[in-house]
Amino acid sequence: MTAHPTILVFDSGLGGLTVYREVAAARPDADFVYFADDAGFPYNALAETALVARVVGLFDELIASHRPDLAVIACNTASTITLPGLREKFALPFVGTVPAIKPACAASVTRHVSVLGTQATVAREYTRALIRDFAKDCQVTLVGSKNLAGYVEAELAGGAPASDEQIRAEIAPCFVDDGKRTDTVVLACTHYPLLRDRLTKLAPWPVNYIDPAPAIARRVLDLLGPPAPSRAGTSRAIFTSGRAPHAVLTRFGIEAQPTAVSGAN
Ligand code: DGL
Repeated sequence: MTAHPTILVFDSGLGGLTVYREVAAARPDADFVYFADDAGFPYNALAETALVARVVGLFDELIASHRPDLAVIACNTASTITLPGLREKFALPFVGTVPAIKPACAASVTRHVSVLGTQATVAREYTRALIRDFAKDCQVTLVGSKNLAGYVEAELAGGAPASDEQIRAEIAPCFVDDGKRTDTVVLACTHYPLLRDRLTKLAPWPVNYIDPAPAIARRVLDLLGPPAPSRAGTSRAIFTSGRAPHAVLTRFGIEAQPTAVSGAN
């Protein structure tokens, strides 16, 4: 593995920044390309075959242009369906982001866990298999949110934040009380940690929200090894829409780059 790796972090929008920040903190010496296929947002709305074809097509070009040493698919909606196709076609190591059902069930005291993801993610066979394999004696409630990721994108693009009522309506089914209460909620969409303070404030009772980003950063370290001392890596971002949300990217220490990528419309 190269001493100063290039790591590509891929999402349908800005949610992958929650994964990027953990991976960048773990490997500050690496060079990063943050790639947002925001022309295709929301991936929740794409049919599975169309999504696989789109993401594999984008990687054809991304690998040719950026020669990454590793790619992080910082999107549950994409990871839960595209990883086999990506791994089959490209020799690159891919680290996926999939619902953190195993650690959530290990941590739950009440044995009531909810998985809050896009409608597509909670419907996927991949997610169902994680429950079969790892939920053990836990009761798992799958909650498909239609709007939450869109609320995050809209607010970060400068729009008005979603109201408390709008957010409450999306998260309400996570909170089950049948004598025992849900105590653990998996954030199974990388956009949701960007709303974490509001999710905490609007919860009807306190729960442990599980963000997979630290575990993803650990997996990247397992594959690439520890950082090289005294080298500061570079970070830039590419958006398939051609937009460059400078204010948000600056918050995350990334430079926006107006690069056109064909095959993404
Ligand atoms: N960040 C994606 C995820 O983790 C966003 C969802 C979408 O594009 O619909 O699932």
